[in-house]
Amino acid sequence: MAKYHIAWLPGDGIGIDVMDAAKIILDAIDLDAEYIPGDIGWEFWKKEGDPLPKRTIDLLKETDCGLFGAITSKPNQEAQKELSPELRDKGFVYSSPIVRLRQTFNLHTNLRPCKAFEGNPLNYRDDIDLVVFRENTEGLYAGVEFYPVSEEIFKALSSHKKMKKFENTPLTDLAISTRIFTRKACQNIVRQAFEYAKEHNRKSVTLVEKPNVIRETSGMMVQEARKIAKEYSGIELWEANVDAMCMWLIKNPQDYDVLVSSNMFGDIISDLSAQLVGGLGFAASGNIGDDFAVFEPTHGSAPKYAGQYKVNPTAMIQSVKLMLDWLGERNDAKKLDQAIASVIKEGKVKTYDLGGNNTSLEVAEEVTRKFEQN
Ligand code: NAI
Ligand code: MG
Repeated sequence: MAKYHIAWLPGDGIGIDVMDAAKIILDAIDLDAEYIPGDIGWEFWKKEGDPLPKRTIDLLKETDCGLFGAITSKPNQEAQKELSPELRDKGFVYSSPIVRLRQTFNLHTNLRPCKAFEGNPLNYRDDIDLVVFRENTEGLYAGVEFYPVSEEIFKALSSHKKMKKFENTPLTDLAISTRIFTRKACQNIVRQAFEYAKEHNRKSVTLVEKPNVIRETSGMMVQEARKIAKEYSGIELWEANVDAMCMWLIKNPQDYDVLVSSNMFGDIISDLSAQLVGGLGFAASGNIGDDFAVFEPTHGSAPKYAGQYKVNPTAMIQSVKLMLDWLGERNDAKKLDQAIASVIKEGKVKTYDLGGNNTSLEVAEEVTRKFEQN
């Protein structure tokens, strides 16, 4: 029996292209793993009214972790139009399968390393090496939203003095999205960030929130971060407001080591950080829970390039690297990172976004050649 069972979730569009590239890498590494294909994505929404069928959830429960490509996602109204005719008006509602995966498996930690590889022409600066820890299941993305707002909800909120401003607004003209934090999730994400900083000899952890305005939720995160920081001598806790942070990340990105934030602010700063080191073709991520994880590039299905093997597989290959790290295959992870770095540094085999015309698969093959030389 294989040592690892890995759910293989290409999704659709270029998700399939980059997962084919990932397979080249994994075969070369000779990881002792069985890859079990799972259905996810737009095709299954259209055919079955569910982009994440129950059989896929069941399959994931039997595996150690998942590797995921990308999927097409559309707002519910548009999604309804593409449902197969016999499924229309039967009450199927489209919701993002990635968000559902995170919630179902409590993948509370989103890990997004953003490192400038030497020789990458898309680097904003060459000395950037930061890692974003984003809370992945709560906050503004917990999905507790109200529209239209019921009498009951409005009444419950009316005891808050700041609701006075809205007392004459018709309920049908009100939309409410809640930002829910638990102390446990705050503690967890901050601790993950500090543990990472400790293990990788990083000097600072920057908490990115907005406690001066969003007092209660951001406030709780700050409070917990200050407590946890005391346990880590030698690692400084810096605090920044999210808006200011977007400026600082453009001005002095090289000053930052580890960033930690809640779900939505983390989403924003991680995309900003990704663009500093080459953009979507380089942005890898891990969705990590207590004993299960799903690794994925953060780009989408880029329909216009689907099936052309044109896109940069680096984000996907780096996601494989994160998976290897998480599985404890540290040596292979390190070798893979070095192999990616040397392919980029040489700059001979590259995809269109780097000014080349090699295929995604050729890049993966080149990475495996470097891996084998190491
Ligand atoms: P996208 O990430 O699919 O692509 C936007 C553009 O970025 C592409 O047209 C391409 O120019 C570039 N790009 C993306 N990945 C690249 C790569 N690996 N190498 C080089 N260039 C790359 O975002 P878009 O167009 O907004 O969304 C397309 C679909 O993907 C939508 O249905 C969207 O909902 C979905 N999506 C899915 C995500 C996921 O599966 N995790 C994340 C983001 C979007
Ligand atoms: Mg995002």
